[in-house]
Amino acid sequence: MASMPTSQVNYRELIQSDRISGRLYYDAAIFAEELEKIWHREWVYVAHESEVPEPGDYVTRQIGLQPVIVSRDEDRHVHLMLNRCMHRGNTVCQSDRGNSHAFRCAYHGWTYDNRGALVGVPYAAGYDASFRKQEFGLAKAPRVSAHRGLIFASLSASGPTLDEHLGPAKRLIDQFVDLSPEGEVEVRSGVLKHSYKGNWKMALENSVDGYHPNILHHAAMAMMMKGKNDMESVFGEGSEAYARDLGNGAAQLDLNPVHSKHGGRVVAPAWSKETDVEYRAAMERRYGAERAEKILAGGPPHFCIFPNLIFILNQFRVIQPIGVEETVVCYYPALLKGAPEEINRRRLTETYLIHGPAGRVAPDDIEAYERNQVGFRARVNEWLVLRRGLHREVKDDRGGNGGIAGHETDETTQRGIWRHYREVMTR
Ligand code: FES
Ligand code: FE
Repeated sequence: MASMPTSQVNYRELIQSDRISGRLYYDAAIFAEELEKIWHREWVYVAHESEVPEPGDYVTRQIGLQPVIVSRDEDRHVHLMLNRCMHRGNTVCQSDRGNSHAFRCAYHGWTYDNRGALVGVPYAAGYDASFRKQEFGLAKAPRVSAHRGLIFASLSASGPTLDEHLGPAKRLIDQFVDLSPEGEVEVRSGVLKHSYKGNWKMALENSVDGYHPNILHHAAMAMMMKGKNDMESVFGEGSEAYARDLGNGAAQLDLNPVHSKHGGRVVAPAWSKETDVEYRAAMERRYGAERAEKILAGGPPHFCIFPNLIFILNQFRVIQPIGVEETVVCYYPALLKGAPEEINRRRLTETYLIHGPAGRVAPDDIEAYERNQVGFRARVNEWLVLRRGLHREVKDDRGGNGGIAGHETDETTQRGIWRHYREVMTR
């Protein structure tokens, strides 16, 4: 493997403990280097197993800018292949999703089965005996690993394992999935996508920014609290929640202290009493009364996994960079297997009520990203301030992960993301 060219960029200068440079969001050379060092090397979330439930099912995605196919074969094994014909490089599959036992390249007709093996070559007499089909199967992602149905891939053959990469975030994925009375989530309700003219890192940082909700999303927060709880005690200075740097670029807004203070979730679940009784009973059957109560009181965790996966409320979101100043975010509502129908219907509608084109929250964030990107054109002083709460964060030994915890409105989470970013970019 060719060695990586030495970087022309001094990341230690651009990323300091209390400030970062705006250049990190618009420099095309930095973006190119991120593709090599982060997207095409680190663990990246790709798809959920429930998106390809049946033999022949497939979805197409990108890892960084590289097109891939996730398919399930007749033996129910999942494969992750590069969507690139081995003849002259055409993409062999054009659809977002579908069911097919083979992928036939439209250009000269080379055909691959859903395991990626080359099974058909038109006018085969044009190749002599030295041409062996076995050598021309679709390329595979060197490393693929899954946790609770979430499929991650790394395009590098070596590096930390997925377990090592996830660290304490693995337990948070469990917390999200355990809300299902069958211990499984299903991603089969389509996807809500929005694009913005801005750098991908803004969506990642924003996902765990506890400073902005009461301000940027003031109207939405007031509406969601319905006067029941004091907004200040949830996302304000008076909040008892934490911002946590979990290591490896994973970060969390831990609302548990707020939930327990209010004796349950701050935003009350929007389903009927009967449904609630039915759901609780199903949870108790699986987990026992005590554990079920703990899972329900905790509710869904709010966190991100570097570089592209975010869990907030009912869905997970996936960040897809398009270019240095263009990004798409995909929202996948996750349905709880075994939960009453009404709950899953709510989870689905809440996704578009909150994040759809006329939603209460996401349009604010998108506007903020695009204004940021315009602001970065002003380059007389390029520094962005990242020091909020630096003086009051503490080493967080709960759970033994050695992370750092700050006040919920502090930039502990963003500093964690940038610390990992700098480590990866200077490796
Ligand atoms: Fe695919 Fe020629 S490029 S068959
Ligand atoms: Fe927001």
